[in-house]
Amino acid sequence: MNYEQIIRLMLERGFLLPSSEIYADALAGFWDYGPLGVALKNKYVELWRRYLVRRDNMVEIDGCQIMPKSVFVASGHLAGFEDPIVSCTKCNLTLRADRLIQEKTGKIIPERLPNQELDNLISSNDIRCPNCGGNFGNVRRFNMMFKVNVGPSGEEAYLRPETCQSIFVDFPRLFKVMRCKLPVAFAQYGKSFRNEISPRQSLMRLREFYQAEIEVFFNPDKANEFEKFDAVKSEVLRLALDGEKLEEITAAEALEKGYLPNKLIAYYLVILKQFYQYAGLDVKRSRFRKLGDDEKAFYASSAFDFEVETSLGWIELVACNHRGDYDLSGHSKVSKKDMTVLDGDRDVLPNVFELSMGVDRSIYAIIEHSLVVDGERTVLRFKPYLAPIQVGVFPLVTRDGLPEAAKQIYSKIKLNFEAFYDESGSIGRRYRRMDEIGTPFCITVDYQTLEDNTVTIRDRDTMKQDRVKISELEQALQRRLFTYSP
Ligand code: GLY
Repeated sequence: MNYEQIIRLMLERGFLLPSSEIYADALAGFWDYGPLGVALKNKYVELWRRYLVRRDNMVEIDGCQIMPKSVFVASGHLAGFEDPIVSCTKCNLTLRADRLIQEKTGKIIPERLPNQELDNLISSNDIRCPNCGGNFGNVRRFNMMFKVNVGPSGEEAYLRPETCQSIFVDFPRLFKVMRCKLPVAFAQYGKSFRNEISPRQSLMRLREFYQAEIEVFFNPDKANEFEKFDAVKSEVLRLALDGEKLEEITAAEALEKGYLPNKLIAYYLVILKQFYQYAGLDVKRSRFRKLGDDEKAFYASSAFDFEVETSLGWIELVACNHRGDYDLSGHSKVSKKDMTVLDGDRDVLPNVFELSMGVDRSIYAIIEHSLVVDGERTVLRFKPYLAPIQVGVFPLVTRDGLPEAAKQIYSKIKLNFEAFYDESGSIGRRYRRMDEIGTPFCITVDYQTLEDNTVTIRDRDTMKQDRVKISELEQALQRRLFTYSP
């Protein structure tokens, strides 16, 4: 299935809703999650907690979405978080200049190319307004933060464009009260906001979106004294260092060859890849792509994007940025607070390496990689522990006391599992409906149930059925649902 078909399935099955759709002034770039989408997202975030945050003893926070102006003076977002735009001189349609050129030429155009060079590319490629055929004016810059006014005095503040700013400004107090030692990783899941010029492709480019960010603070002189690396050094990484050319190489070899700067960064790339394996992505269709100087964010000294292949082409799921001491020194200068911490007997201003994950895009990629069309069956082969509905409960037929028996089982197991009761249509159609939303197990109550208190559990992927005692049902479901596997 391609992107449009998958989004249609998500809309029709209650994963996704266009926000405020009953109004003509509904805004582009805003989507709501429906019940299945919320359940999938929550489970995905729990997996992130389990396989990255808890595994690595990270410290999790939940910061405010509105932050004062000073934060973004210090972070550089007020001065530098800008996209190049052009407007049509005839109909005033405004578009992102780099994307416009990219779409016409098929070449990657860095957004940080100077305005003059973008102007030249627009005229040398004879790019005109797709709406009316008019000429474009000169390229200018548009700041992507949403400004808000706080309180009756209208104090200037902004919706955070990346969750990590909360981690940076909380760093000194957190480091102290949590009695941290370098290196230490702080994590946060929450909303960020960007006033995208041309939001598109629903979950790919949103104006209000979820990030799950990890910021690793470390002493730059000790980034190679990182013992945890030894446990993952034989893991294979797929690195695209030079455009599309791909090398599959162990983490240890990548370090030896100088492809990765240090053990700490190599370790975090490995555990990120492992996390996505557990989330059900086909990591053979993923890569860490090294960004060129003109592609990196303004705060990054070096960067890899974790990308996956989808029907839309390669999409970025995680920005892995070496931010150096950019953020802590910026906040230290503007706030006049000391951001150094003691490491051994020295005061150190830590460096930061981040794994900045786009949650919404990750959800889309997992759905696309899990989807299998198998004859008449459309199956979302989610890992059982990620499935929005974990178990369907059906009576075989709607007579002879079977619905009553099935409802009794349902009312008990729904307290511990996400369960769905269904008695409408043939049993085959009910199984298909569950396959389509990725429900891994279905319990069927049949005539034998009335005789010996057993039910069948049907497996979504093999379509095989096992018979189990009702008294052992919950245990059997637990075992099947929570076997974590890459
Ligand atoms: N914190 C990096 C980003 O939001 O892209």
